[in-house]
Amino acid sequence: ETGFVTLDQGFVNTASTTSAITYIDGDQGILRYRGYPIEQLAEKSTFLEVSYLLMNGELPTAAQLQDFADKIRVHTLLQEEMRTFFSSFPRNAHPMSVLSSAVTALSTFYQDALDPLDSEQVDISAIRLMAKLPTIAAYTYKKSIGHPLPYPDNSLDYVENFLRLTFGLPTVQYHVDPKVAKILDMLFILHADHEQNCSTSSVRLVGSSQANLFASISAGIGALSGPLHGGANAAVLEMLEQIRKDGGDVNSFVTRVKNKEKGVKLMGFGHRVYKNYDPRAAIVKKAAQEMLSTLDKPDPLLEIAFKLEEIALSDEYFISRKLYPNVDFYTGLIYKAMGFPTDMFTVLFAIGRLPGWIAQYREMMVDPANKIGRPRQIYTGSPVRDFVPVEQR
Ligand code: SDX
Repeated sequence: ETGFVTLDQGFVNTASTTSAITYIDGDQGILRYRGYPIEQLAEKSTFLEVSYLLMNGELPTAAQLQDFADKIRVHTLLQEEMRTFFSSFPRNAHPMSVLSSAVTALSTFYQDALDPLDSEQVDISAIRLMAKLPTIAAYTYKKSIGHPLPYPDNSLDYVENFLRLTFGLPTVQYHVDPKVAKILDMLFILHADHEQNCSTSSVRLVGSSQANLFASISAGIGALSGPLHGGANAAVLEMLEQIRKDGGDVNSFVTRVKNKEKGVKLMGFGHRVYKNYDPRAAIVKKAAQEMLSTLDKPDPLLEIAFKLEEIALSDEYFISRKLYPNVDFYTGLIYKAMGFPTDMFTVLFAIGRLPGWIAQYREMMVDPANKIGRPRQIYTGSPVRDFVPVEQR
């Protein structure tokens, strides 16, 4: 402490805002969106219904949901010039870099509807982003494999349209597997919001200067890309692959983690808030078992993941640090079984988290107590000193 400021590195003990959107109890492992338990929403709701709930505070009537879905459906197309935007990237560009660039680029087409203090303009920007992010995400994948960029099909629902854009080809009739669509829809629900996590805090901080929604969401995508945050779902697969390549010796990997060998971590484990099993991870684990049991040959990585969890949950090192699987531990195995490459996993996290980012941005914009985010620091640099001309240095 010095004077009036208290240092709280990483905001471990700092509440940055009040919010009525999401409630987490880290000790109990509880997550609720607008008061509804995540378990009930994952089982009974749909991603668009949950998106409406997060943004508007109430579950929609059938008419309201239909209107919301229809508004999104007619905005899935990108302006034609945006298609050339993708051709300016190398094929091996990381999809998260393309995604955050594309979202900022998108705002240049809507310069008459970017005023963050005009709720109607924020609403249309929200619809445009909800509708176009899956299209952009699919294009980042298509571009990386040299496939043509297909056009959205408005006769399909939200997740089906995304799957067809991603895996469909003009040369063959693409049939969406309804089981895959249902599991992906449920995974998007699980990712939809999570109070003031790193990327949501980034969206709020950027938006607090009255930057427009697109600029704020683009910042959120950047924050999400880090391996300690949304990038963890891809890092888990890389970790499991590495263990498999090393002969599946899970125990020696765990020893390396406990020895803190050059930053080796058990990716997909641990959480700033959950000091219990992440309620989302429990649901994802069940979905992974369900999804992978339908594969004609079982994925050896699933067994390695189960073994890692079993060891970690019985080892003092992890128990004493309250390290449990988080939402990222099992999701990658499902995405891989669906046919997504590892570098698209965090893009899927971004599609799921988008309604939460939007809801949090809007809540901030209408909050009369909202102020520009501008934290202080504790200075540890050089005391005052006089300039020395270069000839005397
Ligand atoms: C997400 O915030 C959110 O809500 C995020 C998220 C969301 O929905 O938005 O839930 C999504 O980002 C989930 C987290 C995905 N990240 C990972 O799986 C990466 C691995 N996890 C860690 O990097 C870590 O657990 C964090 C980043 C998730 C949390 O970090 P904290 O709260 O700063 O905890 P810490 O680094 O201070 O760890 C406390 C102790 C340390 O040990 P000691 O120094 O006390 O000896 O636990 C250890 C850490 O070394 N530790 C781990 C570990 N996580 C923490 N040791 C091994 N493996 C790990 N995964």
